[in-house]
Amino acid sequence: MMNTVTDPTAAQAFPKSDYKEYPKTLAADDLWGQVRRTIHGKPVSEEQIAMIVAAIRARLALARDDVLLDLACGNGALGSYLAGDCAAMFGVDYSDYLVGVAQQRFALPGRSEFMVQDAASYVESEPDPGRYTKVLCYGSFSFFPADDARRVLATLARRFTNVRRVLLGNLPDRDRAAGFYPPGKDYAAELDDPAAQIGIWRSAAQMRELAAATGWRLEIARMGDDFYAAKYRYDAILHRLA
Ligand SMILES: C[S@@+](CC[C@H](N)C(=O)[O-])C[C@H]1O[C@@H](n2cnc3c(N)ncnc32)[C@H](O)[C@@H]1O
Repeated sequence: MMNTVTDPTAAQAFPKSDYKEYPKTLAADDLWGQVRRTIHGKPVSEEQIAMIVAAIRARLALARDDVLLDLACGNGALGSYLAGDCAAMFGVDYSDYLVGVAQQRFALPGRSEFMVQDAASYVESEPDPGRYTKVLCYGSFSFFPADDARRVLATLARRFTNVRRVLLGNLPDRDRAAGFYPPGKDYAAELDDPAAQIGIWRSAAQMRELAAATGWRLEIARMGDDFYAAKYRYDAILHRLA
């Protein structure tokens, strides 16, 4: 799909959690680079993307009549694989640039639409939350400040009353952080910093507590060993508490 390679100099000049300015330094067609879905600066393979898409479909039990909210959707590239699986999808992200890319490439009026807004303020202000049946937040939840993360989940439970499942995909597992950082690096201060390279690392136990406190039951799922981030990430499937 894309042959462009992320420029390592530009990549290092921006904090890894920056999705507003850094993507502007990349080629317009470097869609995976723009959302930092890269391995050693190169976009991940289509096989890896296919694994992610299959996992999302299964974990959300995505059905033709679902209306999907893609929270922190980035440039819409990942969501574009799911658009045909549901009745409609709506993407929200706080990066003007990435939403611009999504609008240019993937918008289809009434079926795939995108808007710029911060996740927490969006869920609190969406005028018609009842239209959604599923929520996806892939590779993004760890970048929400802790208070916002809690607000998002609590507001989804309270206002988005027809949503049965939320998938928080590709969360960094605090219990496995040691395997991610190079030996000898003192990474303790990074684990709770939403602006650090991976965002906030949460263990499955911490995630379970957060889910229960905000109105959700947690199910944990892990990718197979052939997934590039399987060693230190997991997926959280949230089911509405009865
Ligand atoms: C790694 S990218 C993932 C994008 C997309 N979900 C995907 O998987 O391709 C992380 C995204 O989170 C977005 N983001 C981070 N914090 C946000 C916030 N508070 N509100 C909305 N979007 C946010 C960034 O702009 C970026 O697009």
